[in-house]
Amino acid sequence: MVKAERSHYTCDECGEASVQWLGRCPACGSFGTMREEKREVARSGGSRTRAEPLRMGSIAEERPRIRVGIGELDRVLGGGAVPGSLVLLGGEPGIGKSTLLLQAASSLAGRGAKVMMVSGEESAAQITSRARRIQVLDPGLYLLCETEIATVAEAARELAPQVLIVDSIQTMRDSDLDSSPGGVNQLRECVSRMQVLVKETDAVAFLVGHVTKEGILAGPRMVEHMVDCVLYFEGERFDSLRLLRAAKNRFGSVSELGVFEMTDGGLVEVEDPSEYFLGTREEPVSGTAAVVIMEGRRPLVVEVQALVVPSRIPTPKRVSTGMDHRRLAIDVAVLERKARVRLADRDVYVGISGGLKISEPALDLGVCMAIASSRQEKTIPPQTVFLGEVSLTGEVRPVSRMEERLREAERLGFRSLVLSGKARLRGRPEGLELVGVNDVRDALAAFGII
Ligand code: TYD
Ligand code: MG
Repeated sequence: MVKAERSHYTCDECGEASVQWLGRCPACGSFGTMREEKREVARSGGSRTRAEPLRMGSIAEERPRIRVGIGELDRVLGGGAVPGSLVLLGGEPGIGKSTLLLQAASSLAGRGAKVMMVSGEESAAQITSRARRIQVLDPGLYLLCETEIATVAEAARELAPQVLIVDSIQTMRDSDLDSSPGGVNQLRECVSRMQVLVKETDAVAFLVGHVTKEGILAGPRMVEHMVDCVLYFEGERFDSLRLLRAAKNRFGSVSELGVFEMTDGGLVEVEDPSEYFLGTREEPVSGTAAVVIMEGRRPLVVEVQALVVPSRIPTPKRVSTGMDHRRLAIDVAVLERKARVRLADRDVYVGISGGLKISEPALDLGVCMAIASSRQEKTIPPQTVFLGEVSLTGEVRPVSRMEERLREAERLGFRSLVLSGKARLRGRPEGLELVGVNDVRDALAAFGII
């Protein structure tokens, strides 16, 4: 094959390529990020090995997945990891990516898999002492502290692990390239080397990727396009809850959610998240209402908490954590106008238990109930759960996936469920009394709040 050297420019931020130098990247708008790169390009097709078209019936089904043995992780992966694939685990520094993968590696090694952990950030002694401390030390686990990608690839070819963990991809470099580690060219090269390696050895590779505050992978999004599966590990730094979501999955659904709690002994799976988010709800307290939300395909019961206090400023505060502030403004306006709950001279604070972030309209009715309950200092019986989208006219509308939500509420011992009178249900839950309402006024009146 005839090769020619041609220079071109790529953006360090997003990987956008251009044949000429530009002061500002046309794709992401960053200034001064275009860098020259020499790349070998094939001038003519030449002789390549040709792939033959295959009849679908003659193609073998997917090989069995490798189960990690951590249920929440396996589920988000789509039932385990697929041999020959690349999985990117993104998250902010300190969120627990190394911990999760150390636990995954130990669990896999304990199940007899050959696992190699490559760290460019921590020493072997540090990793071992952490493993010992959180009691996941598996003597069969291989550790390699290295940042040169060629050495990593060579070691992997020699050892032939079934699972390879690279922590983090941003610390890896290819010294044949003259650009700096962590830059887009280095990153692309390292990821593509891993791609070749997993296809060749049929291993699964988990790559850790640090995410910056803006939520993008430090460096470019480009890595996301190169891997088969992108998982994000999220949570508030000062809260112990950690959520694992798939943002992309070539081998499974992206609507699965894994829930963990960070403890002194490492990450612990939260097997019953609803129970975790609800806390204890024995005594009725004003300003709280339970809602069944859907996190992907998983129904979860959460508590909406509201606090309404006299305001000292001309434009009262509307503060929300865990829900969209525009949605809150709408709910407040509907309460004022359609249910005559006076809030114009009050500050309104709304939060969701457990530090979840929810952007579902199904939250509306619960939010309205919690706010009105706090404003009027009237409580709602704790065994009641609310399900409804509230329109600008104050009407309570049905929400999606009713049956799954009802089942979850019933399972957790709720006794009554308030929903839109227009909701059509297939089958009735036995232990749950259904209260149909037409609008927010109806709902508030049903509980003696107005
Ligand atoms: P780590 O896995 O190193 O995060 P990342 O690789 O995403 O940067 O986890 C770091 C944080 O987790 C650190 O602040 C301490 C905390 N932690 C615990 O609370 N308990 C534990 O058992 C471990 C190992 C870490
Ligand atoms: Mg780490």
